[in-house]
Amino acid sequence: MKRVAILISGSGSNMAALADSMTGDHPARPVLVLSNRPGVAGLERAAARGIEADVVDHRPFAGDRVAFEAALTARLAQARPDIIALAGFMRILTPGFIARWQGRMLNIHPSLLPKYPGLDTHARAIAAGDTQAGCSVHEVTADLDAGPVLGQARVPVREGDTAESLAARVLEMEHLLYPAVLRRFAAGDRTPVMLG
Ligand code: GAR
Repeated sequence: MKRVAILISGSGSNMAALADSMTGDHPARPVLVLSNRPGVAGLERAAARGIEADVVDHRPFAGDRVAFEAALTARLAQARPDIIALAGFMRILTPGFIARWQGRMLNIHPSLLPKYPGLDTHARAIAAGDTQAGCSVHEVTADLDAGPVLGQARVPVREGDTAESLAARVLEMEHLLYPAVLRRFAAGDRTPVMLG
């Protein structure tokens, strides 16, 4: 059984979708949900599922990313994860931390990578006049949102869409895509999952 730690910063809807998928013959189980922000809804969602949930607040580290990551690493070590799934985790990680988890860390990003790495993906897709949007799960490498893509899901951009309406449509697909990719990945299969 693979042990999965899920890192969040907010509502944790992707975390919940991942956690709920890891039952039965799934090759992995959630062992820790870790947030860099105290009080977020994702922590309660984890606790409600009986998953250990904890906070490593980035703010006391005052921008010292390496010191923050040392605290993250210490907390992760207690849970002994095989895989880290970033699920709406909104901190940039340093190459040192990423190297430690190379090949074992996934992220979900709300765009069809390589389009729109970084923030405001939905507004950028609408502004560009794209007719399709979507989400990607990728392996985390030192280049932001640029690691090998392990799955993508597409949705249409509709007439009159706002960033919010498009985000909601994409998020529904995120909840299907991320569990599908994690299941394959945990089984040692990196064949990309393509939905939509
Ligand atoms: C999701 O849409 C995820 O793709 C995005 O944050 C949201 C988190 O929602 N991630 C990023 O933008 C990463 N750069 P959730 O907390 O409900 O899963």
